[in-house]
Amino acid sequence: MSETDRPEIVFMKGEKVILRPLDDRDLLYWQKWINDQEIARNTLQFRPMTEHDEREWYEKYRKDPNAFMFSVVTHDGKLIGNIGLFGVNWRDRVANTGTLIGEKEYQGKGYGSDAKMLLLHYAFHTLNLRKICSSALAFNEASLRYNIKCGYHEEGRRKDQYFRDGRYWDEILIAVFREDWEPLWEKYQAGTF
Ligand SMILES: CC(C)(COP(=O)(O)OP(=O)(O)OC[C@H]1O[C@@H](n2cnc3c(N)ncnc32)[C@H](O)[C@@H]1OP(=O)(O)O)[C@@H](O)C(=O)NCCC(=O)NCCS
Repeated sequence: MSETDRPEIVFMKGEKVILRPLDDRDLLYWQKWINDQEIARNTLQFRPMTEHDEREWYEKYRKDPNAFMFSVVTHDGKLIGNIGLFGVNWRDRVANTGTLIGEKEYQGKGYGSDAKMLLLHYAFHTLNLRKICSSALAFNEASLRYNIKCGYHEEGRRKDQYFRDGRYWDEILIAVFREDWEPLWEKYQAGTF
């Protein structure tokens, strides 16, 4: 089957993006993005990632029942990033999130927050989680702003936690509870988010 014959896989469809399961053909893009230091400095990743490393990570992910990763695709089929829930703790009903809009010309245009609203819908309404956590380095305005837009609040700071660009930065701990997010989801569904 040629690439053009492949069926479109849609797990969730939002205003701007589709979330689809991560598959083999996406891995090279993920590798490209995480090796880009402008992107990697916002994450905990600092080692060069080979294709082999990426594949190993993928195999580990596939066996992890507490992680849910998606590729973020535009409505016209362009793969632009990834988003996921990981470290799901079923007893306390909490999880962590991570997002990466790796195609830089698509950053700051609402794709990340659209993907996050879909992910939270899945986390709260399908998995029945109650609180989703994340964190951002203090300089990462984009990450803080888009999370706050989706209902996250600051819960605390770890002082001077990470070393980037020759100095230490705080890690800002953020989280969203289901009840704080529901009114935003209503707006989202009404097209007024
Ligand atoms: C962080 C990230 C996921 C945000 O997704 P995005 O698609 O760029 O963000 P959105 O366009 O949905 O923006 C949502 C809000 O954040 C604001 N925002 C986005 N980028 C911003 C920036 N660089 N500075 C300040 N505010 C910004 C937008 O103005 C918008 O707020 P508004 O609707 O009130 O105007 C994306 O930029 C990214 O992947 N960056 C690189 C990797 C990264 O930092 N990942 C997070 C690691 S914790």
